[in-house]
Amino acid sequence: MSQEITTPKRKILVTSALPYANGDIHIGHMLEYVQTDIWTRFQRAQGHECYFAWADDAHGTPVMLWARREGKTPEELIEKANREHKADFRDFGISFDNYATTHSDHNRALVEKIYTRLDEGGYVARRNIKQLYDESEGMFLPDRFIRGTCPKCKSEDQYGDSCEVCGTTYQPTDLIDPRSVVSGSTPVLKESEHYFITLSAFEERLREWMDSGVLQDEVVNKLGEWFTDGLRDWDISRDAPYFGFRIPGTEDKYFYVWVDAPIGYAASFHELCEREGLDFDEWWGPDSNTELYHFIGKDIVYFHTLFWPAMLMGAGMRIPTAVYAHGFLTVDGAKMSKSRGTFIRARTYLDHLAPDYLRYYFAAKLGPNLADIDLNLEDFVQRVNSDLVGKLVNIASRCAGFINRSFDNRLSAQLAEPEQYQRFLEAREAIGKEFEGRNYQSAIRQIMALADEANRYIDDRKPWVLIKEGGKEDEVQAICTQGINLFRVLITLLGPVIPFTAEKAGRFLGQPVDQWTDLDTPLLDVAINGFEPLLTRIDGDKVENIVAASKESLKPAEAKAPALDLADEITIEDFLKVDLRIARIEKAEAVEGADKLLRLTLDLGSEKRNVFAGIKSAYDPAELAGRHVVMVANLKPRKMRFGLSEGMVLAAGDQSGLYLLSPDEGVSAGTRVT
Ligand code: MSP
Ligand code: ZN
Repeated sequence: MSQEITTPKRKILVTSALPYANGDIHIGHMLEYVQTDIWTRFQRAQGHECYFAWADDAHGTPVMLWARREGKTPEELIEKANREHKADFRDFGISFDNYATTHSDHNRALVEKIYTRLDEGGYVARRNIKQLYDESEGMFLPDRFIRGTCPKCKSEDQYGDSCEVCGTTYQPTDLIDPRSVVSGSTPVLKESEHYFITLSAFEERLREWMDSGVLQDEVVNKLGEWFTDGLRDWDISRDAPYFGFRIPGTEDKYFYVWVDAPIGYAASFHELCEREGLDFDEWWGPDSNTELYHFIGKDIVYFHTLFWPAMLMGAGMRIPTAVYAHGFLTVDGAKMSKSRGTFIRARTYLDHLAPDYLRYYFAAKLGPNLADIDLNLEDFVQRVNSDLVGKLVNIASRCAGFINRSFDNRLSAQLAEPEQYQRFLEAREAIGKEFEGRNYQSAIRQIMALADEANRYIDDRKPWVLIKEGGKEDEVQAICTQGINLFRVLITLLGPVIPFTAEKAGRFLGQPVDQWTDLDTPLLDVAINGFEPLLTRIDGDKVENIVAASKESLKPAEAKAPALDLADEITIEDFLKVDLRIARIEKAEAVEGADKLLRLTLDLGSEKRNVFAGIKSAYDPAELAGRHVVMVANLKPRKMRFGLSEGMVLAAGDQSGLYLLSPDEGVSAGTRVT
């Protein structure tokens, strides 16, 4: 029966992207951390030496401004955040070996070492550039801290790097009427010296790396575009004031946060090496035979597939074995929203529900590619209840009763159906391949098909009938022993996904659920323990409570609403110039290349209009069709990058969200609003 797995023991280091210190952990982050953790636990269950090390991303302008606002030191704030983040991860069952912060001596030392090697290698260029500077605050302004009018479409109040209305990207200096977000003042151009890494020096090696099958196809395609555009020098310095590490040899220049953040992966592992007596150079040296994997979101691919490997190459260190990017989490088909209560903090979730439910749901949806993942709250409850409680736990609870009551907790000395057990074992290999390839949804599908089979087996054999017939005790014991062994296979295969449940199951089985090869030997002729419910059904109210609590945590901010900032007064004649009509949304679709826009086809009764609306963050296009809205019908058509926009739909919006205005039922398209 034994199926030796002969793969040699691998040495694997896994990382997740470092969350920013200036924010709470939310379930979008948890999608990534659960994905990483499942993979890590899977590797350990194959007997490999696998570590998971990461950290908080503590540096940068936002943290500096946060500290100013709070009247505290950045150190105080990031320490508190670090404690909270760590607790969130532990309580979610994330089995990291080390969780550090990028603001550490270990990281500083490594950053300086890597920078010095890059500089000595001739990969650091210095030249003066002009940037917008806030004179009242005495600081240069990052793109996101400048707002102004889009040079292209003239929309007001756009960020310094791109316009949310027309999608154009530009330099902050191109903005019309730029304003500092920090002070509100008008920034001025100021020159200073910046340090750059000359990426083009690594072009050939980067291309080679990218073509060696270490990246997903979608990522390779995206990278190809960047190479076609030519690799530009990367600006790695920021002028004081900045919260970060000072560049050696300068008085007032700091490393840009994206320099020391990825180095934080290695520095966190370095801490682990000191604690566990591992050899850092064996893992990070240029000739390392160990494996290194970075799990990241699709938004930070550029940093991990160009800048980071280039730094490693220039510093003479090993490069990643692979970078695995995932898509974004949406809730009920839309971006997580504070006003709808779907911006759910990890802690809020944990206050109401056990982590294994969400871990399971994420796994059931995660594939190996960059597709976004939707957490549909209704489906979540239904799926978890039917799969985990209705199928998986059910197998154990149905069999355990008999073993506990009628056989003094003892399993039979033989399986009733050894061939069936063997088939379950054979599935282990295919399922392992799916975990390895991050196709968790396929692994879960296969495991649940086996669970169905195990339940069918018990249904067919009907131990509850046999036990009443008398004289069939041995048969009943063997059937239940079979069922419990099938359950043991399933919970072992699911162990990486639902570790808390697997641990409880280990207590019930009298033997920890751990290595997949343990399954080679079925549990026979031993005593198990009394059954305790491993998981209970999710009560739908709990999910409603989570949504309500996620809304509530907003209230203090809302209470501080500023006084109304009214626009200039107008006359009734001015107002009557605006022709407002009821329109029916006939079709709504995303616009390729525009993050915020939806293309709406509006039905005005007698005519159709094409309108671009910046409401993508708040609405799922699939849910808009058929809905009535109010539109400005006589707005001068405006040419946008994506086509002509013939009007505007009315929406109310603030930081908490965006809300389309809609008429009462019964009104028809084309009706004038008076
Ligand atoms: N600090 C940087 C990463 C530095 S890595 C050297 C950062 N931080 S983050 O807090 O914004 O995001 C951390 C990770 O969480 C990223 O991989 C990001 O893609 C992921 N996610 C953040 N929101 C997410 C969703 N809504 N859905 C899925 N992943 C999400 O980026
Ligand atoms: Zn624009």
